[in-house]
Amino acid sequence: MSANIAEMERRREAARMGGGQKRIDAQHAKGKLTARERLDVLLDEGSFEELDTYVEHDCVDFGMQDQKIPGDGVVTGSGTINGRLVYVFSQDFTVFGGSLSKRHAEKICKVMDNAMKVGAPVIGLNDSGGARIQEGVASLGGYAEVFQRNVLASGVVPQLSLIMGPCAGGAVYSPAMTDFIFMVKDSSYMFVTGPEVVKTVTNEEVTQEDLGGAVVHTTKTSVADLALENDIEALLAARELIGFVPESNRDPLPHLPTDDPWDRREDSLDTLIPASSNMPYDMHELISKVVDDGNFFEIQPAHGANIITGFGRIEGNPVGFVANQPMVLAGVLDIDASRKAARFVRFCDAFNIPIITFVDVPGFLPGTGQEHNGIIKHGAKLLFAYAEATVPKITVITRKAYGGAYDVMASKHLRGDLNYAWPTAEIAVMGAKGAVEIIFRQDRDDPDKIAEKTKEYEDRFANPFVAASRGYIDEVIYPHSTRRRIALGLRKLAGKHLENPWKKHDNLPL
Ligand code: HXC
Repeated sequence: MSANIAEMERRREAARMGGGQKRIDAQHAKGKLTARERLDVLLDEGSFEELDTYVEHDCVDFGMQDQKIPGDGVVTGSGTINGRLVYVFSQDFTVFGGSLSKRHAEKICKVMDNAMKVGAPVIGLNDSGGARIQEGVASLGGYAEVFQRNVLASGVVPQLSLIMGPCAGGAVYSPAMTDFIFMVKDSSYMFVTGPEVVKTVTNEEVTQEDLGGAVVHTTKTSVADLALENDIEALLAARELIGFVPESNRDPLPHLPTDDPWDRREDSLDTLIPASSNMPYDMHELISKVVDDGNFFEIQPAHGANIITGFGRIEGNPVGFVANQPMVLAGVLDIDASRKAARFVRFCDAFNIPIITFVDVPGFLPGTGQEHNGIIKHGAKLLFAYAEATVPKITVITRKAYGGAYDVMASKHLRGDLNYAWPTAEIAVMGAKGAVEIIFRQDRDDPDKIAEKTKEYEDRFANPFVAASRGYIDEVIYPHSTRRRIALGLRKLAGKHLENPWKKHDNLPL
């Protein structure tokens, strides 16, 4: 018996060593943790239970029959994050560069299937040279098996990808179909074709970092949601994110007890809005004063910063925030902001997370740049997302809500459940100056007349009461009471049940 146990221990140890000490040292020298070290940081201490430790590839080409390493380049299994079950895979770059063989793919598919069976998030730690070149099409088939599962799992269990090394070629499409992507600065990259192919085909010279590093993907492309300084930060951010999401679309939201009073009054919010309506203020201040303990987890902070998206909690329960940011482009809706917020709203709706919307929006961004790049279609994404969402929706207009953007930002007409406005709200078709220049065009050379009409327009429309008189605004509230109002609203909406008409699926304007 002891000989059998010794044999098992010997084999386990061999698997733990992956591609050997030299390659482990090389991984560390690049500032990267190994696949198993990463799981130690990601998961609660001692909670990881490995599966398929002894799986090996079955390739016999190019001398591969003599090169077998137990685990075959990916460590898979399950564990807990703050006591809640998650399924994980962590690619081991020390084993054939973490490249994906058929067996490697089967291991990933097994944890995805298990996660779907019981309803638990899947977290993938990506660090791979892509398709196992020696295996050819068997490897491509393996990728497609993973892709298929990504799609079936979408909206059923939360899927999170951490990019912690290379992720190139078609391999990028598995993370791309998950809900969130976090990248590690300087050591990770994602691209469909690498710098050498780019040079051959287009004659452009570009580094890996400039082509598809963490900064590019969290600022320009929005492929990734967060760029973290190192492996540890990325793994801790993943733990934090998982704390806001349910195990699956059938499970309750995780509750985190708080001592923060639900009716905490924030007098400073009564003076948050500057005297001049053209002056900016930081919408983050409102969010952090409303959420439990000021704790806000922002998604995509570096992209489309004219809209803020992220998670917080009210009375210990997760909520998603969408808020125009007057500090950036006056909080205007443009292509980037619309796409970013639409995707976030759809995530929240898929996983039953109530949406709190703070509105201060002067409208959609004008110009050929926006029109020729399809602001119509991209703006429609956000409209579509809000309109189809059936989760509790609470909206607070703090200042401007102009034009089509008023409609889009979770208005009453898109089944907003509770639509509040601060006394400083201005709800109209457009700002006073623009409106007067159009309807009193004949007086445009008469500054006194224009000033008089502008004042008249402001007095009539630059307030929340016209909308409130029609019931489009449920109540005009004190800014200092915003947290209390939202908390009460969420309590009352806890039993909300709303279903969209049956359909195979909708046709979101992609
Ligand atoms: C098999 C691979 C491999 C791969 C790396 N290795 N990539 N083995 N298949 N795809 C092995 C190397 O042979 C080496 O083995 C070890 O992993 C580490 O690789 P290095 O090159 O020494 O590391 P580094 O210098 O850090 O470079 C990493 C790298 C480079 C940039 C990822 O290895 C590379 O360019 N690999 C090929 C990438 C690629 O073209 N993949 C196919 C993409 S197409 P030893 O034994 O020396 O340690 C694709 C299609 C997917 O993925 C389609 C899905 C639909």
